[in-house]
Amino acid sequence: MTLVTLTGEPWADYGLIDSGNGRKLERYGRFRFIRPEPQAMWAPAKDDWKADGEFIPGADEDGGGRWQLSPEVPAGGWLLAWREAKFTASNTPFRHLGFFPDMAPVWDWMRGRIEGAAAPECLNLFGYTGVGTLALAAAGARMVHVDASKKSVEAARGNAALSGMADKPVRWLVEDAGKFVAREVRRGRRYDGIILDPPKWGRGPNGEVWKLEEGLPGLIADCRRLLDADSRFLFLTVYAVRLSAIAIGELVRQHFADLPGKVEAGELTVREEARGLELPTAIFARWSND
Ligand SMILES: C[S@@+](CC[C@H](N)C(=O)[O-])C[C@H]1O[C@@H](n2cnc3c(N)ncnc32)[C@H](O)[C@@H]1O
Repeated sequence: MTLVTLTGEPWADYGLIDSGNGRKLERYGRFRFIRPEPQAMWAPAKDDWKADGEFIPGADEDGGGRWQLSPEVPAGGWLLAWREAKFTASNTPFRHLGFFPDMAPVWDWMRGRIEGAAAPECLNLFGYTGVGTLALAAAGARMVHVDASKKSVEAARGNAALSGMADKPVRWLVEDAGKFVAREVRRGRRYDGIILDPPKWGRGPNGEVWKLEEGLPGLIADCRRLLDADSRFLFLTVYAVRLSAIAIGELVRQHFADLPGKVEAGELTVREEARGLELPTAIFARWSND
């Protein structure tokens, strides 16, 4: 399988300014932050980074730690935009800013896939704060947005309102992704596109345990059953897991062997503004019917 890289270029409200020595400096609107980045093993372009805050990791590699922020950074967040989508960024305890900017080229790719489709219907599993949902809704898709966390779904609906998209055809569901997809299969439903961004580990609203390596094969099999030869795409991203892009690519290829189109796998990267180098952020596998 040939690997592809899908690279996020800087945009008005987001850029990876510089990276190196295990850290990265990014801009989120008018604020700059430093976060740990183990993959940035190289030397940074500059060593006098100025930022409005820094995430100081705890002793535990996978979690813990805290933000050190200047008083100007609003605790309730601030407004950012990507194309038609407007959303709140804020410094979360999970190191990130409440959305994943490296997904921007994925949002564009999916919009390209549904171009020309009449009222396409797409599913966003593990949809979090909903920027992907809004990106597709703005391009004319009817959306089903699924996330186990009531708080995340509320944040996503808030982002829809901020974007002036509260009246777009979006079903906002607080549900376990696996259970929801299995139910849709039983109902004989079909979709034009599916995006899924499963965490390594998670919990459904009723305590259902999600473990990526155990749950992914069944979930991909069910997603395939919701797509047919007229569907447009499936996009799977995986972060922070000891898996190769080839492994998830072969998994998707096996399940999509009987559909037209192609399966590709590779890495998501973000372009550093200082030198143009690419910082890898996630692996992905995708199917498209073109
Ligand atoms: C932000 S995405 C994952 C992003 C990225 N893959 C990562 O791990 O950093 C995680 C989302 O999945 C949701 N989630 C976790 N377990 C779930 C489940 N069983 N069903 C539906 N959503 C779930 C969480 O509420 C959260 O909003």
